[in-house]
Amino acid sequence: MPKQPAIRKRLSLILLAVLFVISSLMLFEVRSSARIAANEAYDRVLFGSALAISERVFIVGNEIDVDIPYVALEMLASDTQDRVFYQVETDVNSFLTGYADLPPVPGAFENQFDTPIFYDAKYHGDDVRIGAINRYVSSQQLSTRFTVKVAETTDGRQALIQKMITDAILRQFILIIVAGAIMWIGISWGVKPLAHLQGALARRNPEDLHPIEHRVPQEVQHLVDGINDLMKRLSDSMAAMRRFTSNAAHQLRTPLAAIQTQTELALKASSADELKQRLTYLDQSTRQSTRLVNQLLSLAKATPDENSVTFDQIDLVNECKEITKELVPSALSKGIDLGLDCTLNRLEISGHAGLIQEALKNLIENAISYGPENTVVTVRIYKDDNSAKIEVEDTGTGIFPELQEAIFERFNRGNRSDGDGCGLGLPIVKEIVERHGWQISVSSQISKGAKFTISIPL
Ligand SMILES: Nc1ncnc2c1ncn2[C@@H]1O[C@H](COP(=O)(O)OP(=O)(O)O)[C@@H](O)[C@H]1O
Ligand SMILES: [Mg+2]
Repeated sequence: MPKQPAIRKRLSLILLAVLFVISSLMLFEVRSSARIAANEAYDRVLFGSALAISERVFIVGNEIDVDIPYVALEMLASDTQDRVFYQVETDVNSFLTGYADLPPVPGAFENQFDTPIFYDAKYHGDDVRIGAINRYVSSQQLSTRFTVKVAETTDGRQALIQKMITDAILRQFILIIVAGAIMWIGISWGVKPLAHLQGALARRNPEDLHPIEHRVPQEVQHLVDGINDLMKRLSDSMAAMRRFTSNAAHQLRTPLAAIQTQTELALKASSADELKQRLTYLDQSTRQSTRLVNQLLSLAKATPDENSVTFDQIDLVNECKEITKELVPSALSKGIDLGLDCTLNRLEISGHAGLIQEALKNLIENAISYGPENTVVTVRIYKDDNSAKIEVEDTGTGIFPELQEAIFERFNRGNRSDGDGCGLGLPIVKEIVERHGWQISVSSQISKGAKFTISIPL
């Protein structure tokens, strides 16, 4: 599995990216508002100085005269290297004084004579901002409108805008750093319970499957619940495994002890007859332990594990036929009539042929070995509404109702101690049936017989 980045790293990256986007947008905004603010401030001074000049325009005789108040211009250029130009002209575009080639007012004053006009232009290769106002002078001889333009290079206001932007960038930068640091500390604090949890788990004894009782944040509680659930199942299955192993060992001990005793006795046997008898017992005990080991193996195979067996499409009718045929001789030898009752030609299901045969074999063998002579064992396959059924029915001794559940438990032999069974047959059947997603049930009447039914949903 590819390694997932740490929560802290991931959250920090996301939050920083969001902060970065927001502050970039804010810087855009700052840039345009800085321009507006700088222009407003500088334009006001431009306007003031144009106004001051316009107040010194008067008429002498038939002539217009201007007495430029140089303070008005100095007020502009005082604190920067900006250069200042002015121009006064009369309404009929006749140049009066100042710089004759200052760029003209775009458009015209239309009729809004009182509102100043500000505009950007190029003057001798420099960017300039020009403020223009239009006024009226009159005397008895002459009356005319005139325009005063004051231009100023834009270095000062550019520097102001630049400074406002740089300040803003600096502020945002500090903000991001502080936010990042707070975030980092906050997240570290937030994930601390996880580190505690990890530490506690690491210190645990491998056999300790007790639930985790650490207090954890809500978000992690689900994870802990999941782990606790797993622990519970693990501890249950380990307990079951221990029970099983000790049961199996116990079961194996009986035939092995018998083998040992019989061997010792056989070695001491004084006659051929006695030796033969001992060897017969020996043979029985060996069979019993072989069977037990085989059953244990079957159970292990039937129990689902990592490398699960794969299911194929198989014909159930054929499987039943085969296994029944295989067991007919052993039924006959006990005087039992084993038969198959099936009207279907085929019944396709998905399953594992080997396991299914194993299950059927166990059921039929039980019916044969626990039934008295001259009974009948019938294997039946049929379909009803939405399921298929396999039945193994006998006319033998039957099973007490109170034992019908218990006999499906491992090593439980009900009320029997005969035969070479070890109580693993039905658990194997159950395991196989459940593995296929099917169900098994038993019904029985004492002295009339027992019927095991496997139902297969279709
Ligand atoms: N057809 C049956 N008739 C009567 N008793 C049965 C039948 N099948 C199973 N049993 C009872 O269920 C017990 C458990 O069966 P099983 O799990 O196959 O173990 P085993 O056959 O090794 O004893 C048997 O010991 C027996 O008491
Ligand atoms: Mg059995």
